[in-house]
Amino acid sequence: MIDVIDALSVDFENIDIDPFWNVGSEREHRSHRIHAYPAKFPAFITQKAIQYAQVLGIKIDCIADVFCGCGTVAYEAKRSGIDFWGCDLNPVAVLIAKAKSGNYIESAIDIYYQSILVRFDEQLPFYQPPENINQRISYWFFPNEIRELSLLKECIMKCIPYNSKYRYYFLCAFSNILKSTSKWLTKSIKPQIDPNKKPMHVRDAFVNQCISMKAALITENDVVKTSKTVIECRNALNIQKQGFANLIISSPPYVTSYEYADLHQLSSLWLDYANDYRDLRKNSIGSSHNNYDEKSVESLNRSGKVIFDKLSGVDKSKARSVAKYYLDMQKITGVCKDVLIPGGMMLMVIGNTEYKGVHIDNVRHLCESMLNSGFAKVSVTKRKISGKILTPYRDESGRFSASSDKRKVYSEEFIVIGR
Ligand SMILES: C[S@@+](CC[C@H](N)C(=O)[O-])C[C@H]1O[C@@H](n2cnc3c(N)ncnc32)[C@H](O)[C@@H]1O
Repeated sequence: MIDVIDALSVDFENIDIDPFWNVGSEREHRSHRIHAYPAKFPAFITQKAIQYAQVLGIKIDCIADVFCGCGTVAYEAKRSGIDFWGCDLNPVAVLIAKAKSGNYIESAIDIYYQSILVRFDEQLPFYQPPENINQRISYWFFPNEIRELSLLKECIMKCIPYNSKYRYYFLCAFSNILKSTSKWLTKSIKPQIDPNKKPMHVRDAFVNQCISMKAALITENDVVKTSKTVIECRNALNIQKQGFANLIISSPPYVTSYEYADLHQLSSLWLDYANDYRDLRKNSIGSSHNNYDEKSVESLNRSGKVIFDKLSGVDKSKARSVAKYYLDMQKITGVCKDVLIPGGMMLMVIGNTEYKGVHIDNVRHLCESMLNSGFAKVSVTKRKISGKILTPYRDESGRFSASSDKRKVYSEEFIVIGR
């Protein structure tokens, strides 16, 4: 762990890897796999962060994650019996995080599950889907799957009361079968149609999903603690609450590589989070569709300005997107400082990247932002990302490539700690 006094003078690339952060001491709980989520973070980082903070003498009453994604930190905080507050802009992330961190009664799950399936089976032979199906849904799904999914969703809504945690649970199950029952190219990190795909049967997919979700969430229920978990769908830049967490554990969105709104469009459309999924790109940090105003570049910190200038030489539009990302991240470090109770600690996991030969030094920018936002002590170490494929480049469609003129994907990332 090295202390950062002046972010510009640190040789981040040559920081040693600290094996403490590489692997967890136990297998990741299967609750973390109830729904796919891009850029999900390894669950054990939460346990390590808690351990690390406790060694520093921090008493942890509440953990926050301002980019909570699918609720990895939320779930681990609950497992440790610690209160949690988190938010995410993406309604699909919030749905998964809520479903993952609920406390469920097994018999209630069984009753709802049976009533959904009985209703589905009774109505399927004569069911007519609504006429006003979103065009984009028709683009991704065959008519038969549209009919069955429409009915399944209707059954969930009819069988489970509004605002019940069981509604989140079953809608999360519904959401996670959408890719397999559509024409979406399996495992693709870009939205694209597979012309040869044979979608899974809706009922089978739902049954399988419910069986694995129940096994994951109920087993763990035996050790559920009485801690409180709050997850909100909101823009982290607008968090109003201050001074309530002793520990922030988070991983910021990646700089212009994932379009969360695009990747979750099937769920957003089916669950009526948007009529046009592109509306959900608004305010998404790291989206390449964000507007930025020329003059705001003046507010970039020194590390951000260096990268912006280098990128401007190779791709002006990319430089603007990266500048917008850095400006947002500069605000986020201020928000996080306010969220922390004095004496608390923030831990961020962040990676660097490269674009057309320009090193995009996110860690340097984050450290400088934290120092500028009033963190008194900023320290950094490095971890190895396990399971990384050996070809460290991706092409324009996100596929791994051996060619070094493509976007570089690093096999290491940084742990940045602020006090
Ligand atoms: C790297 S992911 C976090 C993943 C998370 N740690 C997990 O394990 O699922 C970053 C998250 O930031 C969210 N995000 C992007 N812009 C945001 C904003 N303005 N406010 C809140 N969340 C935002 C994205 O939706 C995404 O879920």
